[in-house]
Amino acid sequence: MMMTKYRIGPSILTADFLNLGRDIAAVEAAGVDYIHLDIMDGQFVPNISFGMPIVAAIRAQTELPLDVHLMIDTPEAYVGAFAEAGADLITIQVEATTHTHRVLGAIREQGVQAGIALCPGTPIAAIEELLPFVDQVLVMSVNPGFGGQTFIPTALNKLQRLRQLIDGGNLNCRLQVDGGIKTSNIARVAEAGSESFVVGSSVFDGKDQVAANVAALRSALGE
Ligand code: DX5
Ligand code: ZN
Repeated sequence: MMMTKYRIGPSILTADFLNLGRDIAAVEAAGVDYIHLDIMDGQFVPNISFGMPIVAAIRAQTELPLDVHLMIDTPEAYVGAFAEAGADLITIQVEATTHTHRVLGAIREQGVQAGIALCPGTPIAAIEELLPFVDQVLVMSVNPGFGGQTFIPTALNKLQRLRQLIDGGNLNCRLQVDGGIKTSNIARVAEAGSESFVVGSSVFDGKDQVAANVAALRSALGE
């Protein structure tokens, strides 16, 4: 398989919320490929993060693609609002709504790319029929809701099987992984087939270390 240029996207969930503008500028200067925005409603996940106003504020500051990860129940109710706020891609959790195919179509009707995410306990079979209708598949390698968690190794086999499904089916959706990605495991995760990496605490942990942290992840990928 042709070597793909890997995409790195920091999740701002573990950024400094009192200095978001500074942290967005820092990851942009560090050469990341997109910004990952974790939206949490306290229902689908046991945490509440931030909403459309923060997405709109970040949109006003950066040209980087905004990858909005909706960890919310009935995401269909907010597709328009996050498209309006400036999302370039909206990912819904397959577990969060009944009519996933319809919601993915609604995202694309907004001129926004569509992603589908699956929790660690959700089998690939739950999204197989949706693969032709998405631009990205997001494999959660932690239970959604928090940054700084430990990578769940069963995600590797899931990524391998999805890689085969995508390549075998001539589908052009990207394969993304999210949760517990570190310099110590990112090469293995890439080998398993992921081409896009959401990284939270491994970018924002450590004061003013963003550029060094991103560079360490890139070199761990051999880039
Ligand atoms: C978890 C979020 C992840 C998380 C990643 O529910 O979807 O994006 O913020 O943070 P780390 O990389 O620290 O696991
Ligand atoms: Zn996420």
